[in-house]
Amino acid sequence: MQRREFLKKAIKFFFSVLFISSSAVAGLFLYPSKIRKKQVRFFEVMKEEELPRRGVKKVVFQIPRGDHLINTRVFFVNNGGSLFVLSPVCTHLGCLVNWHRQKGEFICPCHGGRYSIEGKVLGGPPPRPLTRLPFKVEKGKVYVGLKV
Ligand code: FES
Repeated sequence: MQRREFLKKAIKFFFSVLFISSSAVAGLFLYPSKIRKKQVRFFEVMKEEELPRRGVKKVVFQIPRGDHLINTRVFFVNNGGSLFVLSPVCTHLGCLVNWHRQKGEFICPCHGGRYSIEGKVLGGPPPRPLTRLPFKVEKGKVYVGLKV
């Protein structure tokens, strides 16, 4: 390959890369919702006096999905004065766990995953603990933060 030919190809390659990368950047500005990460949004779920004084309380509420509302749920846990919120989504394949009061465990109906009241894995295939969700209490109302 002669030097002139090589330079032509190098310049073509350079402008091709420049075109592709600038198109990608333009796409980010034109279609931000397609690539925007989900942000935490707080949803009112109950009154402060309804918080569990001990044990586990399942709370069902609605969140927007597209142009309609869907039911979702979380678990408020008060374990010895430590209050936190657990996601019901099993960390194995995403089934919804249930609280089994007699056993004192969260149990996943899909493959038998078991979690402690703290959300730690006790058995089965789940690779990680249940996710703790942010929550806050403001003016007597309780809010849970979800990524939507
Ligand atoms: S999805 Fe829960 S154990 Fe498999």
